[in-house]
Amino acid sequence: MQARQMQTQNIAEVVAIEVAANQFPWSHKNFEDCLKAGYQSWVFVDASEQILGYTVVQQVVDEAHLLNICVKPSAQKQGFGREIIEYVIDFSTNNSLVLIVLEVRRSNRRAQKMYLRAGFNEMSVRRAYYPAEKGREDAILMGMDLAFFA
Ligand SMILES: CC(C)(COP(=O)(O)OP(=O)(O)OC[C@H]1O[C@@H](n2cnc3c(N)ncnc32)[C@H](O)[C@@H]1OP(=O)(O)O)[C@@H](O)C(=O)NCCC(=O)NCCS
Repeated sequence: MQARQMQTQNIAEVVAIEVAANQFPWSHKNFEDCLKAGYQSWVFVDASEQILGYTVVQQVVDEAHLLNICVKPSAQKQGFGREIIEYVIDFSTNNSLVLIVLEVRRSNRRAQKMYLRAGFNEMSVRRAYYPAEKGREDAILMGMDLAFFA
């Protein structure tokens, strides 16, 4: 898997994966806005330049806020999610960032497990943070303290 900066022309392929992988997907405009805002956004491609996954990271002073991470459903459970997380950790340490934070749905045990295994800790809960099928759902706020690696 190779990392490439996400480009506007990648968004259609990214949104197709986003819709296939998420119950509440980001829209084309959400990704466009992130690129316009200069958020760090990468796609991860296979040998034939097909997108396997992507991530969007907002740098806020010396923190990385992981806004989106996704692996194409047919490519899941092969270690790519973990590779993408490791890429974000490397980017953050190489840029002297001190903390990576993210929110994850309480019901998304799979992603939580991936973050815990990668070294994230549960920091707090944001009550009723996400829209859900019935009402709202809590977000678990998770973080990785990179000062530890400095
Ligand atoms: C979460 C996601 C990125 C994981 O990607 P992936 O490529 O399948 O993950 P990996 O194969 O690297 O697995 C990493 C770890 O995740 C966990 N995991 C992955 N698939 C799992 C499953 N089906 N059930 C339980 N845990 C699972 C495991 O802990 C795994 O580590 P292990 O295999 O050493 O036990 C992917 O499922 C996805 O895109 N989901 C939809 C979008 C999403 O939920 N994003 C996160 C929003 S916060």
